[in-house]
Amino acid sequence: MADKTETSSGKTFTLTNDQTGDKWVLPVFDGTIGPATIDIRSLYEDTGHFTLDPSFTSTASCKSRITFIDGDKGILLHRGYNIKDLAEKSSFLEVAYALLYGDLPNQKSYAEFSKNITYHTMVHEQLQFFFRGFRRDAHPMAVMCGVVGALAAFYHDSLDISDPKQREISAHRLIAKLPTLAAMAFKYSIGQPFIYPRNDLGFAENFLHMCFAVPAEPYKVSPILADAMDKILILHADHEQNASTSTVRLAGSSQANPFACIAAGIASLWGPAHGGANQAVLEMLAEIGTKDRIPEFIQGVKDKKYRLMGFGHRVYKNFDPRAQIMKETCDKVLAELGVTDPALEIAMELERIALSDPYFIERKLYPNVDFYSGIILKAMGFPVSMFTVLFAVARTVGWVSQWKEMMEEPSNRIGRPRQLYTGAAQRDYVDINKRT
Ligand code: CMC
Repeated sequence: MADKTETSSGKTFTLTNDQTGDKWVLPVFDGTIGPATIDIRSLYEDTGHFTLDPSFTSTASCKSRITFIDGDKGILLHRGYNIKDLAEKSSFLEVAYALLYGDLPNQKSYAEFSKNITYHTMVHEQLQFFFRGFRRDAHPMAVMCGVVGALAAFYHDSLDISDPKQREISAHRLIAKLPTLAAMAFKYSIGQPFIYPRNDLGFAENFLHMCFAVPAEPYKVSPILADAMDKILILHADHEQNASTSTVRLAGSSQANPFACIAAGIASLWGPAHGGANQAVLEMLAEIGTKDRIPEFIQGVKDKKYRLMGFGHRVYKNFDPRAQIMKETCDKVLAELGVTDPALEIAMELERIALSDPYFIERKLYPNVDFYSGIILKAMGFPVSMFTVLFAVARTVGWVSQWKEMMEEPSNRIGRPRQLYTGAAQRDYVDINKRT
């Protein structure tokens, strides 16, 4: 397997205190590829100093063998495989297997894994009553935060996180049940009956069936749409130590159960700077309305009144390889459905203008994965409020893989960042009747 455990490169990094002239020699670790890391684990003990990196722009929070991103070159690898190859040649469940177990499956292990996942697609019948407690107009991400966390109340037999078998069953349950819960959230919001999973269908096909079938008549999922959904799931499956994944890892580091950890990840994903961007893109395109209003909108972005949603990325500073595949998928879906969406025309014109405008070029702002995904999902019949839920369905695979990897790490300890305290120093307590 092409990976590497933590190995010192033999190189060091010397830190000098300008005031005292004291020097500290810090070990440097090399990954398989990517930037080397300076090991500062003993820095506080040795120097009495913390490091300050509030949004983690220069901090590796963990070692991982799962996903590699080179943001300057626009490279995304899962277990060493290029995202383009995976999206074009693999199924989502093959990618899920690779993320969880380290390499793509052979035919036998793939058949076994698919069987294990489909075995867990149903949810406890009692769970439907949780849905009924929500308002029909609740945002489905709010519903997902609740019902995914609630899984811990039902699957007591896989909550012992010290048992690798139970951890694996929880991982399978989460991957299998998320589409079922997401489809239930959708059906609940439109007042239709829940549709049970069908294990004779593929993963993406079954999901679309649960979303769009009704009990009154047969429903056949278009193979082109099933294929597009499978690609969307692959493109969102994992993305290294992003906000939601780091949330899952931090929650898991306290030894919380996996269902609670994934619910925490869903909450973090919801924000418009992260997974919520796919919803925000469509809202933005609707607000722009017509192509002639684009220049005015772009000016507003430059005046920093708002951001161009679906553009920019903390790591990708050249292009987001997922966005290119998403655009191709978008074209196929619109052609299959015969949809001519004015939002697509606005999106393409926005992209053209932004990519040639110095404001965006200087800041290295390119379309990200969320720029085109919303247009596809809208064409498939999903309301905008469901877009981030679909992201969560896919990312659950990444979350559980990262959680599993962390739990298998013998040196795993609770994550506990420190701070630069800027509040009041210790002061005397003043009685309430003496306070001004
Ligand atoms: N539109 C306009 N300006 C932007 C944008 C944008 N989308 N993104 C960044 N900038 C500007 C920002 O104003 C700043 O300019 P200046 O140097 O003049 O102050 C500069 O670019 C750097 O911005 P930043 O906020 O330091 O960048 P970041 O790395 O912290 O933020 C980001 C990354 C993804 C949160 C941000 O680009 C953004 O808000 N994008 C829109 C939301 C979005 O599409 N999110 C989905 C990300 S991909 C999927 C996912 O991760 O879930």
